[in-house]
Amino acid sequence: MTETSTIDSARRTGELLPRLSRIVGTGHVLTGGDLTRSYESDWTGRWSGRCLAVVRPANTAEVAAVVAECGDHRVALVPQGGNTGLVGGSTPDGSGSQIVLSLTRLNGIGAVERESGQIPVGAGVSLTALQQAARAAGYDAGLDLGARDTATVGGLAACDAGGLKAVRYGTARARIVGVEAVLADGSTVSRMAGLLKDNAGYNLPALLIGSEGTLAVITEVLWKLVPRLDARATALIAIDSVQQAAQIAGPLMASLPSLEVLELMTETGIRVTLDYLDQAPPMAVTPAWVLVQCAARTDPQDELIEALDGIGVAGQAIVAVDAAGTERLMRIREGHPEAVNHGGVSTKLDVGVPLRALGRFLEALPTVVERAAPGARLVAYGHLGDGNVHVNVLGPDPDDTTVDESVLELVAGCGGTISAEHGVGRHKAAYLALIRSAADRAAMRAVKHALDPDEILNPGTVLA
Ligand code: FAD
Ligand code: MLT
Ligand code: ZN
Repeated sequence: MTETSTIDSARRTGELLPRLSRIVGTGHVLTGGDLTRSYESDWTGRWSGRCLAVVRPANTAEVAAVVAECGDHRVALVPQGGNTGLVGGSTPDGSGSQIVLSLTRLNGIGAVERESGQIPVGAGVSLTALQQAARAAGYDAGLDLGARDTATVGGLAACDAGGLKAVRYGTARARIVGVEAVLADGSTVSRMAGLLKDNAGYNLPALLIGSEGTLAVITEVLWKLVPRLDARATALIAIDSVQQAAQIAGPLMASLPSLEVLELMTETGIRVTLDYLDQAPPMAVTPAWVLVQCAARTDPQDELIEALDGIGVAGQAIVAVDAAGTERLMRIREGHPEAVNHGGVSTKLDVGVPLRALGRFLEALPTVVERAAPGARLVAYGHLGDGNVHVNVLGPDPDDTTVDESVLELVAGCGGTISAEHGVGRHKAAYLALIRSAADRAAMRAVKHALDPDEILNPGTVLA
């Protein structure tokens, strides 16, 4: 870059913040460490950077104007919802030149449409707020995860989040029937009619869901609710080996129509989490625990016990007898991410393998990790029914990529994915070639180039 163009670009950037203030109001353009810090680091402390400013638009028109202005100034934007993402996609890089576009003020929730069971929700609405609105109307959101109080609907859509109930209701993609979004040139696209069938050309919502803020800024979604089921039965099964845990997933899914949660915990994680929660083990700690929850209109406990009996594990299981007991069992699983975070900054991977390869993967994992990082502590847990394992390794420097490389190669060898539900972010952009062919990656780059030729939206995320 020549000296003149550097000065020119600095002058133009200097003009940008006053212009953005005119769009969103001075109080919603935040600069200076004290105001911006919480937007610049993630929940784990693994990802942090520095931004030019945090900009907080209040509605779609303001988002569109901000994006257009940043495009004119060639200043990159990092869309951010609740900043609970775990792959470095929601925080700025270290350059100090990016704008964090916070969507939390887009927090309007519409009324449930009775004919369709759909509800329009602003991108900044938290998952908890969506769940509460749904339940008050006799429905449920059909998606749940530990970061529910902070994670936003826009973030769930952008990451195609999964969570605890994906085994029954699918990931965010299955719940979202409409999207409104602002493209990189500042134009707005809207598919909010709530049509369950709409084959008129390319499916833009399908493309934007899971695009991690790299193709558009999602401003509103139309969410398809599920029936509210108030009767629950919960069991915890002690399993002798991770392979056996993998083997019971299929039979449980086949024999339990009311199954809503099917989770895996393994020995080190169970111990670390019980310590963190200061909770006594509810039963003997074995190499694996499987958590099963059923939900129905009427008490599904008999169905659950019959299924456990049918696959020969009833004798190794405990069943929660009341709400407090249920909460205690669920808390052990949900406490895993916090317990790991408490132990330091971990190498955090979120992989998925086909269920037929899950036993093989889980068996090989400790050896692969030990070889990559001798003496490190492996905490593996996840969404058993989805073949989705969260691999957390405490010990090695998180910038050391040896564990990432070894585990992701193992995953690729099992026919799996380097990201099941958290997304690629910045963390895994360099590993995409392990599971996506050259043709596949070229098609992705072509889509990115067509929609965002100047790389204004979240550069470095998904595609390195
Ligand atoms: P952010 O973290 O703010 O952003 C995440 C990504 O989405 C970034 O790339 C960002 O640029 C983009 N983005 C955010 N909003 C928009 C928007 N409006 N338009 C375009 N792009 C946008 N995830 C799961 O899938 N399953 C789990 O079980 C799960 N459990 C978790 C438990 C804990 C304790 C924590 C901390 C996280 C968990 N997560 C889980 C990860 C995280 O909560 C999800 O990825 C969630 O979808 C992120 O939402 P967010 O609003 O915080 O998004
Ligand atoms: C979970 O299932 O607990 C989350 O996806 C978060 C994590 O992997 O730690
Ligand atoms: Zn998860």
